[in-house]
Parts: sequence; structure tokens; C-alpha cells
Amino acid sequence: MKGSIPEDKIEEVRRRTDIVSLIGEYVTLKKAGKNFLGLCPFHREKTPSFTVSPDKQMFYCFGCSEGGNVFSFLMKLNHLTFPEAIRHLAGKVGVVIPERSMSPEEKDRYTLGEQIRRVNGLAAEYFVRALQSPAGEGAREYLRKRGIEAEAISTFRIGLAPEGWRHLLDFLDKKGIPPKLVEQAGLAILRAGEGERGHYDRFRGRLMIPIEDVDGHVIAFGGRVMGAGEPKYMNSPESPVYTKGNNLFGLSRTREAIRQAGFSLLVEGYFDLIALWGAGIQNVVATLGTALTRAQVDLLRRYAPRVVAVFDPDEAGRKALARSLELFLAGNVHAKAVILPDGHDPDDFVRTRGREKTEELVARAVPMVDYYIEEILGGRGTLEEDRDKLREAVAFIARIEDAVERNLFIKKVAEKLNFDQEVLKAEVRRVLSHATASQVEPTRRKSVREPDHLELGLIHMMLECPERIPAVAMSGVMACFTTEELRSLGERLLTAAGKEGGAIPDGFSLVNGLEEGPVRAKLLDLLMSESPYQEEWMDRLFADTLRKIQRKWYKERHRMLKAQIVKADEAGNRELCDGLLREKERLLQEEKGLA
Ligand code: UTP
Ligand code: MN
Repeated sequence: MKGSIPEDKIEEVRRRTDIVSLIGEYVTLKKAGKNFLGLCPFHREKTPSFTVSPDKQMFYCFGCSEGGNVFSFLMKLNHLTFPEAIRHLAGKVGVVIPERSMSPEEKDRYTLGEQIRRVNGLAAEYFVRALQSPAGEGAREYLRKRGIEAEAISTFRIGLAPEGWRHLLDFLDKKGIPPKLVEQAGLAILRAGEGERGHYDRFRGRLMIPIEDVDGHVIAFGGRVMGAGEPKYMNSPESPVYTKGNNLFGLSRTREAIRQAGFSLLVEGYFDLIALWGAGIQNVVATLGTALTRAQVDLLRRYAPRVVAVFDPDEAGRKALARSLELFLAGNVHAKAVILPDGHDPDDFVRTRGREKTEELVARAVPMVDYYIEEILGGRGTLEEDRDKLREAVAFIARIEDAVERNLFIKKVAEKLNFDQEVLKAEVRRVLSHATASQVEPTRRKSVREPDHLELGLIHMMLECPERIPAVAMSGVMACFTTEELRSLGERLLTAAGKEGGAIPDGFSLVNGLEEGPVRAKLLDLLMSESPYQEEWMDRLFADTLRKIQRKWYKERHRMLKAQIVKADEAGNRELCDGLLREKERLLQEEKGLA
């Protein structure tokens, strides 16, 4: 499929694209020496290990080993095919790619997503024009009444789907777009049991709000009735380009403001976002009315490490807050909560009280953790209620993945609710061990299994930079290796380097002599390509890798211990249980000592 775009065009696109500014559109990058550094968009991390090199026009993540050029970046990030990535970039840098001739099947197969985006884009244009036409007067009046001004209307490409059954279908038909594709884009519906003529417009007599991906392609629509009527919003169904939980409304238009502000203001509705934006508060995104997802939290973190989320004061709002908090904690996003006065949503709050009052409210937002403990768990009740709260708190804490975070939380909750910290801890431990009781103990990996990439990385470093070998020996990290083959190779390197005057064995022949399998293949591959280890990154990278391997080992040990504790507990073996708990404590201390 790559063959359908001429090589020289691909080269031209690559040449004209600057990787730093391209990646900078999606990831906040900071200059670090010759390179740029940011939080990796492909895995969760707290300290940046995602590196972009302007010299090589390559990116590489030292945390997850994802790497490549501008094309691979876009493909991976936006789930594009290679030709899609090329054409996307070509459009940006003004390279014209000739339309290639393809068989219809070929066209179908890999461009359905592209075609849907194109149909959506055309539909958006159509709706915009319809809103500005004489037939759009009613809708324009509706927007006026809601205080939505022209700038917001054009920025968010708000439009109108006129009353009638085939307006959009007819318009698209003239552009040569078959009804079937309009249906696949979610813009038309097929009457059951009828053929091609059975299609009709999904959206009729509704105000149309395009939902865009971060690059501004229209991937879906929300259509609002303008009077009474059900449902209030009709939305495009999910499609190859649209998954509700993976997108956030408005982000394509607000990501710059979010980056500048350093935080995003998270609301629920289209109009909440549009109204705030119109009032000059532009670092906003909206969840489209559904519960927040992990993918959305990951998306938010790309643009700013902090979020201020707006919640209703009612029961549903509290539930939403508790759930979101879990996701924010897991996603390493610092979250604050704003609770609006009863009966208000951000839209009418900003319209009635104005920008300044709204900004004050945002500035006074409290850390979500505190809010959760104070307001949701807090307040002494009857003994019954306290027990419920304890149960809720324990369930919540048990879902926090990060051990440090979890202990902090335990401490806070214990203080606030006047629970005994040890009791709380024990309860959490009980829940945790039940959750993992079914897990089997990890075994060392056989050589047919994929080697652990961190361990592989360290061995590679030892081979490329033998001067690091003594430090590896000092750290004792070899004991933490889980890939047997890598461990024995590492040990051979240590022994060889440790011998007095011992020449370090030639890495290549050492690896070459390994048994056939993934370890040998991967290492050979690494050794064949240019060394990725540049002086300036080396110290940090090396230290990070050591630390990560050790951490991983402790994590695994803790998991095993947990399982053993449960077993001992179930067997009623108090003594063993205590012993195991002491071992757990010792491990924790030991681990702390490393940090
Ligand atoms: P709201 O009912 O708060 O809508 O739902 P809103 O955006 O404030 O709209 P207005 O102010 O009444 O015009 C919040 C979000 O939930 C989704 C939409 O994404 C909406 O923006 N929703 C709501 C639907 O998808 N369908 C519905 O019927 C209602
Ligand atoms: Mn509203």
C-alpha cells in the first residue's frame, strides 16, 4: 500500500516536517540539551523519558522503547495507516500527493476511516451553510438567546440540519458520495428491509455541533433540538473514527489555551464549553455527558498535568467525582474539584455571574482528594453510617494502584474519619489480597518468551558502554532479572569484567553464541543498529533503568507475598501470616532505602 504514494513525495513530506513542532502539538516538550523531553504519550509515566531529537528527526521513549520518525509517531498516536499519516502531513506542509489508482477493495479497506472523516467534513460545511441561510433564522435566534456569539459559532463550526428527510443525503449524493458511506459515517439511517433508496438523514431539525479529533477532523456530531423534544441531543453512533470514551469535545480548539494555562477545566456539556469559551475562559474540554474514561485522562495529561473538574452537588455528581478521582490518581493527573451552587451548570453560571466570578470559583477549587475525604466520606454519622463509610473508603483505597499514594490516602482518611490507621490498613490489605488471591506466583521466564524490555535495555547498555559494568555489579540488580537468559548473560559480563585485567568479551560474538530465540534476535538487532546511547542522556538513562528493574522486582515480590498471606490467612496460620507481614514490611523498608 505504501507503493501507491511515490517515494519522492514521502521524502519531501518527511523533509518539510519538523518532528519537534509536530510532536509538540501533542506532547508538551521541554528543551533538554540538544534534545527535547516530555511525558510519553504511549505509556504512563511520572518523569519524562520521551525524547525527541531534532538532529536525527527521531523520537524515542526510554520508558517504553517506543520510537521512530514523524510518520510512525502519527500512526501510533492516532491509529493511522502509513498512507493516512503521509497524507495527513502532506496536507499540513503543502505537498500535493497525486491521487493513485486503486482497486475498489483496496480503497475500501484502508481508507474507510479517511472517507468517513471526509464525509463528516463535508456535512459540517453543509450544516454551517444551512445555519447561515434564510432557513437558519430560527436556529440563529436560538443561539442569540443562549448568548452564543458569532466568533464561537464559527470557531466550533456550529451548524443546522434542516427539517426534512434527505437534505444531507441529496447534498452528498451530488458530491458522489453513496448513501451507504453516509450511513457508515452515522449521518444516515437505513430503513429496515429497504434497499439503497431506504436511507434517510439521521439529523433533522437540529442544531449541529461537530465533534473533532485533536487534529480538527470532524469525527462525529451532536445534534440538539431547539425546542422541547426528545432526545435533547442526538449523537453520531460510534464508527471507525469515533469512540466516545477516547475523545473529548473541544480539545482541538482549546489545547493551546490548556497548555498555556497549565490545566484544563473539565465540564460535561457542549454548551458549557462553548459558553465558557465565549466568555474568555478557553482552557476547557467536555466529556460529552458520559463518565470519564482512562483514555480521556491520558489525553488530558498530554496537554497539561493538572485538571479542574466541575461537578454537580447532587448524588450523581458525587458518584462521578469519586469515580473520576480514581482515574486521576491512576493516571497521575493532579485533580481539583469545583462544585457549582445547586441548580447551576457552567453555562448559566458564566452567563449570569460573568467571567471573573467564574475564574474565582475555579481558583478556589480544592484538591479532589481532600474534597472526597471531607465531603463524601466526612461528617460523623450513626455507627451504621460509619461502617458504610469505612467500607466505601476501603474499597476506594484498594483501587489506588500506587502504593505511596495509597498510604497517604490511608493516613488522611484515618485522621479525618478518626479511624485507627492500622485497622484501615489491615482492611485494605484484606481487600487487596482477595483481589489478587487467584494470581499464581510468577516463574522465571523461559527463553521462548519475550524478554523483559528493561532488562534487555540494561544488557544492551552493558554491551555498548562496558564502562558501566562495575556500576551494574555494585547495584546488585542482576538478582532482580526475570529473564533467565539475560541474567546469565549479564552475569558472564560481570564476571569477565571483574577478572583482574580481564578483557571485556566482545559483545557481538557473545550474543552471537546464544541459543536461537527472541533474546538473541533482539540483542543482535540492537547491536547492529547505531548505538542510541548519547553521552548526555546516559547517566540518567542508566540510573533510571536500574531503578525500574529493581522496582519491578519489588512489585512482583509484593504480589507473591500477598498471595501467600491470603493462603496463610485462609489456613488460619497466624504465625506464618505475621511472618509474611513482617517480610512485607522489611521489603518496603528495603525498597525505600533504594530511592
Ligand atoms: P446536559 O443536559 O447538561 O446538556 O448534558 P448541555 O450541554 O448543558 O446542553 P443544554 O445547555 O441543555 O443545551 C451534558 C452532555 O451530555 C450529553 C451531551 O454531550 C451534553 O452536552 N447528552 C445530554 C447527550 O448526549 N444526550 C442527551 O440527551 C443529553
Ligand atoms: Mn446546559
